[in-house]
Amino acid sequence: MATLTYVFTLFIFLFINKITTTNSQPFLNSVEQDSVYRVLDSLNSAIPWRSLFPDDLCSSAPHGVVCGYTTLPTQSDPGTVNILELSFGYVSDHNPNPPCDPNSTFDPLILSSFPYLRKLFFYNCFSHQPVSLQPFFELGSGLEELVFIQNPSLFGSLSESITNLTNLKRLVITGTNVSGEIPDGFGLLNNLEEVTLSGNKLAGSLPENVSKLKKLKILDLSRNGFEGNIPAGIGELKSLIKLDLSLNFFSGGFPASMKGLKCLELLDLSYNKFSNCGIPLVFEEMRELKGLFLSGNELGGVIPDIWGKLRGVNGIGFSGLGLVGDIPSSIGVFLSNLSYLALDNNKLTGSVPLEFERLKMLSELNLKNNSLSGRLPFSAKFVSRIGRKLGVQGNPELCLDKRVFGSFSKINSDLGHLKVCKRVEVPKYALPHVSSSSRSIGYQVSSLLVMFVWFYFI
Ligand SMILES: *[C@@H]1O[C@H](CO)[C@@H](O)[C@H](O)[C@H]1NC(C)=O
Ligand SMILES: *[C@@H]1O[C@H](CO)[C@@H](O)[C@H](O)[C@H]1NC(C)=O
Ligand SMILES: *[C@@H]1O[C@H](CO)[C@@H](O)[C@H](O)[C@H]1NC(C)=O
Ligand SMILES: *[C@@H]1O[C@H](CO)[C@@H](O)[C@H](O)[C@H]1NC(C)=O
Ligand SMILES: *[C@@H]1O[C@H](CO)[C@@H](O)[C@H](O)[C@H]1NC(C)=O
Ligand SMILES: *[C@@H]1O[C@H](CO)[C@@H](O)[C@H](O)[C@H]1NC(C)=O
Repeated sequence: MATLTYVFTLFIFLFINKITTTNSQPFLNSVEQDSVYRVLDSLNSAIPWRSLFPDDLCSSAPHGVVCGYTTLPTQSDPGTVNILELSFGYVSDHNPNPPCDPNSTFDPLILSSFPYLRKLFFYNCFSHQPVSLQPFFELGSGLEELVFIQNPSLFGSLSESITNLTNLKRLVITGTNVSGEIPDGFGLLNNLEEVTLSGNKLAGSLPENVSKLKKLKILDLSRNGFEGNIPAGIGELKSLIKLDLSLNFFSGGFPASMKGLKCLELLDLSYNKFSNCGIPLVFEEMRELKGLFLSGNELGGVIPDIWGKLRGVNGIGFSGLGLVGDIPSSIGVFLSNLSYLALDNNKLTGSVPLEFERLKMLSELNLKNNSLSGRLPFSAKFVSRIGRKLGVQGNPELCLDKRVFGSFSKINSDLGHLKVCKRVEVPKYALPHVSSSSRSIGYQVSSLLVMFVWFYFI
């Protein structure tokens, strides 16, 4: 039955890679042709690959097997073709690669028969039989992408021999049994643009030489056992767009050199052991920042007023940081694209800034477990938009205006637990600090508008 399903999906998603140019079409050499069958058989022996794809695999191959010219044809010479990419593992209807059998056995040594291989991709292929990572590092300098996603029985470590892959641009190993440390020589792989190693059993520290990876755009080491400080060299990764070190044991503070990360859009350092360094002003220099996630580290200190320079931010995760002091109103003034704000489980005091009402994109706001007080400054429209994603419980001094929120306690039980405000308090409206006078007039006008909206709802 399983076999039938496989064959069936295969027929539905039978994608044919054709080389369309000359009439005198070159053929894939018999060594590579035979090796492709051997790889396919080892990944799924239930499918009769040789009879389903009896012809030259450069004219007709299962999706995921990609050929290309390695010598271009001329009038007298038909050129040569070789296997360039091999992708395995059914991902979705839109990515119909050959499925792998859960019991697939695979001998990576077969891959040495493909001298022009540029890309290797395995999704959900090795889940029972142990497969070693080491032989993949012997594939030599042609390989540009090495991708393993969700292969729990892939094992081994990132040994020095990975430096054999001198042209590697993309290294993705996630959801495997791969362990050990990042080798010192890793910095030699200076063509790397993406290093995603999340969800493995890696440990040790991030070597200083990582600073040599000048083309790196993505560094994701999340969900491993890494420890130690962030090396100062990280600031030299000028092309970095995403840095995710979450769910590890990194400690210490954040190096000042991080101000060099001018292109960074996502910074996720949550759930590590960073401590007592506060939220440093260095983040203010990352002008492209969209997501800043630091939750689950005992940083302490106050929420800095850095938001005027970080106007593109749309997500802030500051849960459980030991933060004290007020919530700066500048978050509401400047972050017009903010959609996610988590400030729960801190020791924040004062009232919720009136300016939060301006956050038109906000879809989740978590203020639970703080010591906030006073009236919740939101309109009925605001509360109905955020609904259940507004978290306010665990702030005993917070109150709400029954006339505005009465009907919402059904959709959000947090609101039902708040006490009702006793009398109409005239809110204190704090103007943000702005330098240019024309701007400050703008803010005064808009703050009058907010006051108007405020009184309208009272
Ligand atoms: C995989 O192997 C196990 C036992 O070795 C067997 O019970 C199972 O049916 C096999 N699965 C497939 C799809 O062949
Ligand atoms: C992962 O490796 C450990 C030994 O390091 C082994 O005990 C375990 O069975 C492996 N898990 C899988 C899914 O292969
Ligand atoms: C790969 O690197 C290891 C050690 O770094 C070396 O011993 C081996 O010969 C290299 N293999 C190839 C194919 O270059
Ligand atoms: C990487 O840095 C370490 C010290 O942190 C050094 O011992 C090693 O030689 C460096 N390796 C390379 C390849 O630069
Ligand atoms: C908000 O998002 C939009 C759409 O992604 C973008 O065009 C705009 O520049 C952003 N605003 C700021 C202040 O970054
Ligand atoms: C609030 O704090 C208490 C006590 O520390 C904790 O048990 C509870 O899970 C927290 N609630 C939320 C929603 O985080």
